[in-house]
Amino acid sequence: MQIDINLQEKSYKVFINELKKISLDTKVAIVTNPTVSALHLDTLLGKIAASECFVITIPDGEQYKNFETINTILEECFTHRLDRKSVLIALGGGVIGDMTGFVASIYQRGISFIQVPTTLLAQVDASVGGKTGINNKFGKNLVGAFWQPRAVYCETEFLKTLPKREFSAGVAEMIKMAVTFDKDFFEWLELNSLHVEKNLQYAIEKCVKIKADVVSRDEREEGIRAVLNYGHTFCHVIENETNYSTYLHGEGVAIGMVLANSLANRLDLLSVEEGKRIQNVLEKYDLPTSYTIASAEKFYDSFFLDKKSANKKIKFILPKGIGDFAIKDDISKDVLLEILQ
Ligand code: NAD
Ligand code: GLY
Repeated sequence: MQIDINLQEKSYKVFINELKKISLDTKVAIVTNPTVSALHLDTLLGKIAASECFVITIPDGEQYKNFETINTILEECFTHRLDRKSVLIALGGGVIGDMTGFVASIYQRGISFIQVPTTLLAQVDASVGGKTGINNKFGKNLVGAFWQPRAVYCETEFLKTLPKREFSAGVAEMIKMAVTFDKDFFEWLELNSLHVEKNLQYAIEKCVKIKADVVSRDEREEGIRAVLNYGHTFCHVIENETNYSTYLHGEGVAIGMVLANSLANRLDLLSVEEGKRIQNVLEKYDLPTSYTIASAEKFYDSFFLDKKSANKKIKFILPKGIGDFAIKDDISKDVLLEILQ
């Protein structure tokens, strides 16, 4: 299956289970980490034909998603004398994809890159849409660029080595898309298991189509792309309170969606029964759905650290029934404290 991301001259395709050969008459550098390289680098190398091919290996982990690692990748690019026609290939999860894309956006004022995502989260979300970047001491993904890849290759074969928790974290992002954009897909998720290969491929295709539509309409998150942040306003506070060490991002999103659902319920956007159905699908994949809020006031104040809280207004993406959404930035402090308590 091939899915088009329509962005005029920046358009590209997402290929799902169609990686046969990547043929380039330029230099290529694959950026990966030791975990992924041990499992999947040989497979990828067997599919690349290029004038020269280098491998750049960086340490594994979100804690390395920083300027130091960007500089390491850049220095390797210069050492291998990559030129403006050279192509970077990201082989890994969202961390590798975001950093490779960022280097591609700045190396010699911008070169081309290809995404080969190896986590479920990266296949259905991070590799598509051109958000690239790194973290710094002020927060996550605060430095970066919109830089679209020239192609994305999602291979379900790579997911077979993914730890169970990482798989479920990706499922949380899939549930996010179903709840806000596609009721039929949500009902399909209720009835089917993503541990069945053909179901997984179908669901990845569904999510990439949703993301393709959103990104094609709003590349720079000036409108509808923000809906992909359902659950994230609460999630960011939880990640921050737990020092990014207790929950994987997708797990935080799962809890965040449950909290957003309580708020949606309070505002008569979502029924209790619909909220329970969403929770059931999250729990089917052993995702966490509860969190103890020590101080509602402190939690509330932390909303304002979010880079999406503009002009002191907190933006919430809420489900409107299942399969639709509402964007609210005028919810009173009293209502929010009531939910948090
Ligand atoms: P990750 O890249 O850290 O990968 C998770 C772990 O799985 C890592 O240890 C990795 O080495 C390992 N791994 C990767 N593929 C594997 C495989 N096939 N088998 C076994 N292990 C494998 O995490 P992630 O969840 O993929 O991505 C999270 C990152 O993505 C965050 O930095 C987040 O900010 C970013 N993100 C970006 C976007 C975007 O639009 N650009 C969207 C969502 C998330
Ligand atoms: N993951 C959210 C986005 O791409 O906008």
